[in-house]
Amino acid sequence: MLKLIIFGPPSAGKGTQAQRLSKDYGLPQVSTGDLLRDAVAKQTPLGVKIKSYLDTGKLGPDDLIVQLIKERVSKPDCSNGYLLDGFPRTMGQAVELDRMTAIDLVLNIVVDHESLVERAVGRRICRKCNAVYHVKFNQSKTAGVCDKCGGELIQRDDDKEQTVRNRLKVYQDQTAPLIEHFRKKGNIVDVDGSKGIEEVYSQMTRAIKALKK
Ligand code: AP5
Repeated sequence: MLKLIIFGPPSAGKGTQAQRLSKDYGLPQVSTGDLLRDAVAKQTPLGVKIKSYLDTGKLGPDDLIVQLIKERVSKPDCSNGYLLDGFPRTMGQAVELDRMTAIDLVLNIVVDHESLVERAVGRRICRKCNAVYHVKFNQSKTAGVCDKCGGELIQRDDDKEQTVRNRLKVYQDQTAPLIEHFRKKGNIVDVDGSKGIEEVYSQMTRAIKALKK
């Protein structure tokens, strides 16, 4: 049983690392961003309610997000643990999570502000399987085509520079204060996210190994 949080600002590399950890450790990646984008694309009642938040980079209401997470982690594939990506993001969500379960480790990716903007603006994702690429730092073999499933690579609507800057501000105001909350609980490890994707991954697996000792 292993329950992890991949934490960090927008476009720090949470999804990139979470996808690989999920595969290597056999843990489902529970990404609130992916779940919400999927709901928007399918125009479910949640998707209709949440669309304007995603478009502007604001955080969705805590009650909706907590409900979404509770439903997702109660599915059978989460019975041996999971990897939370993008949750919690407010103190209210963190308190609800504490009521729900104990988290083994928070991997906090630290990256400077301007690199975050560059990573977001150059990001491309697969329309079909959500795999993450970058036009400069993590290119697909064929431009515009997903290596994993052949799907079309697209730019997320919220990766336009102004929306990215709004998301960074929202992170500073509402999400960064959670770091202190995790420090008090003693289950957070900082990861130097300025390094390349491989090196960041190694830092994370080392932290997970240390936990298992
Ligand atoms: P969400 O999808 O969670 O967005 P985010 O937190 O802003 O994170 P990103 O997906 O932008 O980035 P990431 O850290 O996963 O980076 P990635 O691996 O893609 O949320 C979207 C929206 O949903 C929110 O704005 C909000 O409206 C709503 N929402 C979600 N969760 C919510 C919650 N809990 N409460 C309320 N609302 C919520 O990498 C980025 C790029 O960098 C990629 O191109 C990648 O290839 C590249 N890259 C990755 N690592 C490296 C590296 N080491 N070096 C160079 N390039 C790298």
